[in-house]
Amino acid sequence: MIITVKVSQLMMEEKTMKEKLEQIMRDALSQIEQSQELDKLNDIRVAFLGKKGELTSVLKSMKDVAPEERPKLGQLVNEARKDLETRLEAKKAAFAKKLREEKMKAEVIDVTLPGKKLNIGHRHPSTIALEEVEKIFVGMGYEVVEGPEIEYDYYNFEALNIPANHPAKDEQDTFYINDQFLLRTQTSSVQVRVMEQGKLPIRMIAPGRVFRSDEVDATHSPSFHQIEGLVVDKHVTFADLKGTLAEFAKALFGEDTKVKFRPHHFPFTEPSAEMDVTCFKCGGKGCRFCKGEGWIEILGCGMVHPHVLEMSNIDPEEYTGFAFGVGLERIALLKYEIDDMRLLYENDKRFLEQF
Ligand code: DAH
Repeated sequence: MIITVKVSQLMMEEKTMKEKLEQIMRDALSQIEQSQELDKLNDIRVAFLGKKGELTSVLKSMKDVAPEERPKLGQLVNEARKDLETRLEAKKAAFAKKLREEKMKAEVIDVTLPGKKLNIGHRHPSTIALEEVEKIFVGMGYEVVEGPEIEYDYYNFEALNIPANHPAKDEQDTFYINDQFLLRTQTSSVQVRVMEQGKLPIRMIAPGRVFRSDEVDATHSPSFHQIEGLVVDKHVTFADLKGTLAEFAKALFGEDTKVKFRPHHFPFTEPSAEMDVTCFKCGGKGCRFCKGEGWIEILGCGMVHPHVLEMSNIDPEEYTGFAFGVGLERIALLKYEIDDMRLLYENDKRFLEQF
């Protein structure tokens, strides 16, 4: 009798457990169904499957069930557990999908918009012109050298036959730092620096920045560039100067370019000249570009003055030489048919991108 009671009691336990399980599942499923956000799903997981969750508590109360019923009930709980997990996962995936769809809708990509361009810079027109000039002279066996931009008065003027109080000093409105130092007004200073090293013969060009107290306009700037040239050797004549510079002009402006030398004065050369080239636009007939002249002035040149050689300890009886000075900007303006020097300094990308 006692046993019967106990058995029926146990059966009761089992039945209520099953009902309890079913109730838990109904609760859980309806909560999952109604959940509106990801966080809520997590709460449900904890509430039902967590350590203190409802399903776990069913497993814990297993001890009240008849031993032979335990496996069956255990299996039921496990199936319920799996079922719950699957449904939670499915709901989670549905949320993620919804979220992605909403995001896609919000972030509409206009495929017709232009792409982001990677801007790769390129060389400045003055640099391109300089490299071309360097290439021509290096091809003729010249060395490219540099000198300082802050220079001694001695190298910039004195040793170039322009002593204190010489009127030529006035022509180059100089930025003085003090009595001794200045911002070089011409790359001719490098001639002296190379000559006084005493290594002969010399075949060099010296490109670089120079400074003059000039107002900015279409053809002037307080800072611009020159390329100096110097040759010192035995038996160098004016014919060498003419031949070299004629070759240079042809290489730079085209095979048909002719050159013309006009007498001029520079304190450090004797005789001195300015060289013109035939207008490469009209071939010398005269046009707007050459202002009807047919010729365009491009550089100053001459035979190195004997006194200049002497001052740098070179014997003018044994050695002679020629020198020349070209404005780099002038070359760039001519080559690229630019009518205003300021464009070369303003660094407006719309302008620079054209070269
Ligand atoms: N230094 C001169 C100037 O700035 C240009 C020049 C003329 C350089 C004649 C020379 C030369 O070497 O021989 O105006």
